[in-house]
Amino acid sequence: MKALIVYDSVFGNTEQVARAMTQAIGAGIDPAWEALAVKVDAVGSEHLEDVALLVVGSPTRVFRPTPALSSWVKSLPENSLQGVRVAAFDTRLPPENAPAPLRLLIKLFGWAAKPIANGLTKRGGELVAEPEGFLVTGTEGPLKEGELERAEAWAREIAAKH
Ligand SMILES: Cc1cc2nc3c(=O)[nH]c(=O)nc-3n(C[C@H](O)[C@H](O)[C@H](O)COP(=O)(O)O)c2cc1C
Repeated sequence: MKALIVYDSVFGNTEQVARAMTQAIGAGIDPAWEALAVKVDAVGSEHLEDVALLVVGSPTRVFRPTPALSSWVKSLPENSLQGVRVAAFDTRLPPENAPAPLRLLIKLFGWAAKPIANGLTKRGGELVAEPEGFLVTGTEGPLKEGELERAEAWAREIAAKH
């Protein structure tokens, strides 16, 4: 079974999360899985062939995924994810580190994972996990301690749902 992790990343943190997930699924409890991580600007239609699980992640940028990631999701044809299990994640700053006015906006507008998940289900994907966020300690990172391990566990749990 094929798992594809599509990600975007500006400073490398989301890429690290995507690679940790790929490793966790590929070397996970079920040897039937093969997993591949591909950056959004390198994804071709061949990558999506026979994919059983599609995980898509982006850094949160002004409450949303990056433009490249959003465009890619929008470019997927209608119903193209029928029969594909999907999940979405983002990286984000801890809201408690943001100034109060920004905290309010974050509460209102949220993070990248939810709109990604909506885009995937709109195209027929079956959502197998709630959209998840992984924390960076600053705009350029690094990831908060323990987040890579949490990402691995999240990915393993998703892969086990079949
Ligand atoms: C222009 C810009 C906008 C950002 N907007 C948000 C935001 O709305 N919410 C948030 O939690 N983090 C925000 N961040 C922090 C990013 O989420 C952080 O840079 C990202 O997780 C790093 O991932 P990467 O290394 O893969 O690029 C923003 C960062 C930049 C540079």
